[in-house]
Amino acid sequence: MTTPIISPSILSADFTNLGADIQAVANADWIHVDIMDGHFVPNLSFGADITAAARRATTQPLDVHLMIDNPERWVDNYIKAGADHIIFHVEATDDPVSLARHIRAAGVQAGFSLRPGTPIEPYLPTLDEFDLVLIMSVEPGFGGQKFMPDQLDKVRALRHEITTRGLATLIEIDGGISADTIAQAAEAGCDAFVAGSAIFTNDDPAAAVTNLRTLATL
Ligand code: DX5
Ligand code: ZN
Repeated sequence: MTTPIISPSILSADFTNLGADIQAVANADWIHVDIMDGHFVPNLSFGADITAAARRATTQPLDVHLMIDNPERWVDNYIKAGADHIIFHVEATDDPVSLARHIRAAGVQAGFSLRPGTPIEPYLPTLDEFDLVLIMSVEPGFGGQKFMPDQLDKVRALRHEITTRGLATLIEIDGGISADTIAQAAEAGCDAFVAGSAIFTNDDPAAAVTNLRTLATL
C-alpha cells in the first residue's frame, strides 16, 4: 500500500494569513484549492488570482477543484496561475474527455469530480483519460459538512475498475474527512484525502495532517 496523500483545503484557512496557513501544512502532500462561482454551487470562494498567490507561497502541488459552470472557459486561467491538478465537475460540461485532453496537453494533471447524486458508471470507460477522480462525500459548496458514507460505493466501483484495467488513476475524496471518517474512506480504496475544517480548525494543523495520514495507512 502506498502512503496516503493528504490535501488540506485552504477554504478553511484564515484568508488574512493565507501564506502562513499554507506554510503551516508544509508536511502535507498537496494543497487543495476550492474554486466556487456562486452558480454551480451556492457559494463564492476565490479565483485564479488567489490560486496564483497560493502558488507563490509553496512548492507543494496545487490541487485545484473547480466548482464552476462552463469550466472550458476558465481552465487556462488556472493553468497560468500554476495549478498542478485541475479537477472539474462532469455536471458542468458536455465533453469531459476533450477538456481533460486540453488540460493534459498543457502538462497539468486532469481530474473529474461528481456531486453525491451523480452516478460513476457512465464515466468508468473514460478513466484512462484522467489522472484523478474526486469523489464528493458532501454536497459541494461549503466546508464543515457531515461525511456521506454511501459515497464509498463509488470509491469501491472505481477501485475495482482501476485494478482490473491496471490504470494509474488516483481516487481522491473530498468532504467531511476527519479523524473519525478517514479510515473508512481508505478501506474503500481512496488514495488521496481532502480535509479542510479537520486541519485548519486544529491548533496544530501539521499534527492534524500527520494524524490523518496515520489513520489512513492500512
Ligand atoms: C466542499 C469543498 C471541500 C471543502 C472540504 O465543496 O470541495 O474541499 O473545503 O471541507 P471539509 O473538509 O471541512 O468538509
Ligand atoms: Zn474541494
